[in-house]
Amino acid sequence: MSSKTLEQFLISNLNELKEKGLYNVIDPLESPNGPVIKIKGRELINLSSNNYLGLATADRLKKAAEKAIEQFGVGAGAVRTINGTLELHVKLEEKLAEFKGTEAAIAYQSGFNCNMAAISAVMDKNDAILSDELNHASIIDGCRLSRAKIIRFNHSDMDDLRAKAKEARESGLYKKLMVITDGVFSMDGDIALLPEIVEIAEEYDLMTYVDDAHGSGVLGKGAGTVKHFGLQDKIDFQIGTLSKAIGVVGGYVAGKKNLIDWLKVRSRPFLFSTSLTPADVAASIASIEVLTESTELVERLWENGNYLKKGLKDLGFNIGNSETPITPCIIGEEKLTQEFSKRLDEEGVYAKSIVFPTVPAGTGRVRNMPTAAHTKEMLDKAISIYEKVGKEMGVIK
Ligand SMILES: Cc1ncc(COP(=O)(O)O)c(C=O)c1O
Repeated sequence: MSSKTLEQFLISNLNELKEKGLYNVIDPLESPNGPVIKIKGRELINLSSNNYLGLATADRLKKAAEKAIEQFGVGAGAVRTINGTLELHVKLEEKLAEFKGTEAAIAYQSGFNCNMAAISAVMDKNDAILSDELNHASIIDGCRLSRAKIIRFNHSDMDDLRAKAKEARESGLYKKLMVITDGVFSMDGDIALLPEIVEIAEEYDLMTYVDDAHGSGVLGKGAGTVKHFGLQDKIDFQIGTLSKAIGVVGGYVAGKKNLIDWLKVRSRPFLFSTSLTPADVAASIASIEVLTESTELVERLWENGNYLKKGLKDLGFNIGNSETPITPCIIGEEKLTQEFSKRLDEEGVYAKSIVFPTVPAGTGRVRNMPTAAHTKEMLDKAISIYEKVGKEMGVIK
């Protein structure tokens, strides 16, 4: 017999979400997650994936995964510390450290897990974390898990960060202080002000933690936001995901050897959850190799990003202040934004609406992620659909 309390809780909350138009219906893809996808038999130009470089479907990665399955099977068999560390895991970590310009790296099962792992392995209830108010949900949850005091600073507001860092340091209340930021903010595409953050961190003795899920493979010739600013020696924790530009799944922390050694003995997702599969690891290694051998894909991504941005801006859309290929198209009111995304879908463009509470109320947007795999023809078609829907709905003139 199922619990009546649970049943009532679920029915009333699900109904509330549906009434408010906030219930998310998930569309299963009938094709790979490429620049064009198939949903319910229809082909759509895909502007919603984080597969920035198109590597999720690359032959070289698929072949590497197949070979690893042949050699090592489909599962790692155990958590890393018991006997789930394959030589492939070690190779991946060496490659990641080299790629990021750090002494060492540690791989986890996801980017989300990195934040669950790394923050609470170092910070506790005697400490405080200065966290950008727009940081990703996994950073927020990682901070909560650590039980450190969370001090939010206004988004990329360096005066606010400095004032709060000074107050926290001078209060004498905390043993350790850390500042955490996304490298690239995924809703707006803006880049964290890392040089200023490092300066403030040095002034008030803050550890520095950058989650570069959306900067890796995109900035710094592919190596990420920290490399983009040449700050490899100044950032203590570089977090990355293997699921976006890298095209596979998993995450990593890169930093000094002592930090990585500590995470190997103290971070719970490493100690208590089975490691990445051989196929994931081998495909990720191949992906890092592609990125270190050539910057061609990164260049194509930027070219496509700039092309789409110009096209939408010229039509009169508000594309915000993105500094990266992430291209928000800010519509405003929530219902209008959702309707706009639905109309794009009907016309052949898959671009999801992002509304409150993920972004501030009244700034609902359709977020576009052009990738290196899009052709100019695909982007031209998407822009002309934007024009049609934008005019029809009165979003542009
Ligand atoms: C900043 C940030 N960190 C972590 C993650 C989670 O990464 P993963 O999908 O590898 O768990 C994301 C994904 O959206 C992200 O944007």
